[in-house]
Amino acid sequence: MRLKKIVGMKERSNGVSVIIPAAGEGRRFRESRNGSASSRSKGRTTIDKLYFQIQGRPLIVHALRAFDSVSSVQEIIVALGPGGQTRFRREILSRMKFKKPVVLVRGGATRAESVWQALKRVSKKSAYVCVHDAARPLVQSAWVTHLLQNLNGWDGVVLGRRATATVKVFQSGTGKIKKTLDRNQIFEAETPQIFKKDVLLKAYQALGSRAFHATDDASLVETTGGRMKAVSHSHPNIKVTTYQDLILVRKMIEKTPALRFGLGSDRHRLVSKRPFFLGGVRIHSSVGPLGHSDGDPLLHAITDAILGAVGAGDIGDFFPNTAKQWKNKRSDWFLKKALEIAARSLVRPVQVDATVILERPKLGPRKKKIQAHLAKLLSLPITQIGLKAKTAEGLGPEGEGKAVSCEVLVVLGSSES
Ligand code: CTP
Ligand code: MG
Repeated sequence: MRLKKIVGMKERSNGVSVIIPAAGEGRRFRESRNGSASSRSKGRTTIDKLYFQIQGRPLIVHALRAFDSVSSVQEIIVALGPGGQTRFRREILSRMKFKKPVVLVRGGATRAESVWQALKRVSKKSAYVCVHDAARPLVQSAWVTHLLQNLNGWDGVVLGRRATATVKVFQSGTGKIKKTLDRNQIFEAETPQIFKKDVLLKAYQALGSRAFHATDDASLVETTGGRMKAVSHSHPNIKVTTYQDLILVRKMIEKTPALRFGLGSDRHRLVSKRPFFLGGVRIHSSVGPLGHSDGDPLLHAITDAILGAVGAGDIGDFFPNTAKQWKNKRSDWFLKKALEIAARSLVRPVQVDATVILERPKLGPRKKKIQAHLAKLLSLPITQIGLKAKTAEGLGPEGEGKAVSCEVLVVLGSSES
């Protein structure tokens, strides 16, 4: 009986708790995006690098899934920044299933402080802690198993690679090179890093707030006398720091080219005493489209096409015509919002082809003006915007001058081009 109990405990104590620090502000990512057409939105929630879609899933989910399918993993603890837990629940936990419990904690001001906050919540049942940056989505379950096999006798193991560059020590102020290190002794540390739980806890406890400036967890164990092992690999394990890293990682993960197509159509009743906006351009006319917003059927069709291309629903889902704030709203704004939504899937319109069905007034020379305005809104050359106008030969509501309608095809390509 007693023996059984001890063996049972031993089995349980092989468990691994995974800590995912994800509370960073992604400052370098934001800075690297400045200047691109789709980067104008400010604020943490809209630009958080961990929520950009790669192969239909937020970036952070790629790492979560890899750990979720490792059998010895008992739980995954994610450290998130201010406001991060609400978004994580809404966009990840409510939409995806994980086999292992996913625990959310509030992170700290530095990466190490975030790890410490998570470490305090690790289950008593786990004997090991595995720390992995949320921003490294290429991690594979097999790497974790491989690291665990290397643990025997060590306090911890670090995944990384032998240096290929020649590394020099220099004075950052003057640029003076002090010395060149022996490359054969240089190891570039990455994550995952796996530790005996008690060793990592003790290292954090011993160093107190001095621990919070460390850029990885292994260094804390090293400075407190622990024995860490470097485990080399040669698989790509990019940490998404800049927007360019994200584009590169997306290319590595997604097998299909990032080309999306969206169809949009819209029809509005024409009534007197309404301004006529078409493609964001005011047209002189005795009638105008009736609508809750400005009723611009061309911009509405393009907005719908963009949302459709990324599987994000339709214009009414985002801007219901019952909501006061959209009343008489200029539709340029809806289009900009749709572009932001598409940008999260790393795509943007690369071509538009549209047909306007309108009996009166004749669009004639205004077509060029509309084309130019659309080109500006979409940051595209004018040659990528097709615009045709048709009458309906007197047939149906359009033909009778009672309605205007638009049909649109939008092609979306990779955000980088
Ligand atoms: N991290 C964290 N808590 C912090 C800072 C960083 O949990 N206070 C996490 C990040 O979310 C990321 C990992 O640590 O998953 C590595 O950090 P890094 O790549 O530097 O990301 P950010 O800190 O978000 O980016 P930046 O330094 O450019 O602001
Ligand atoms: Mg950082």
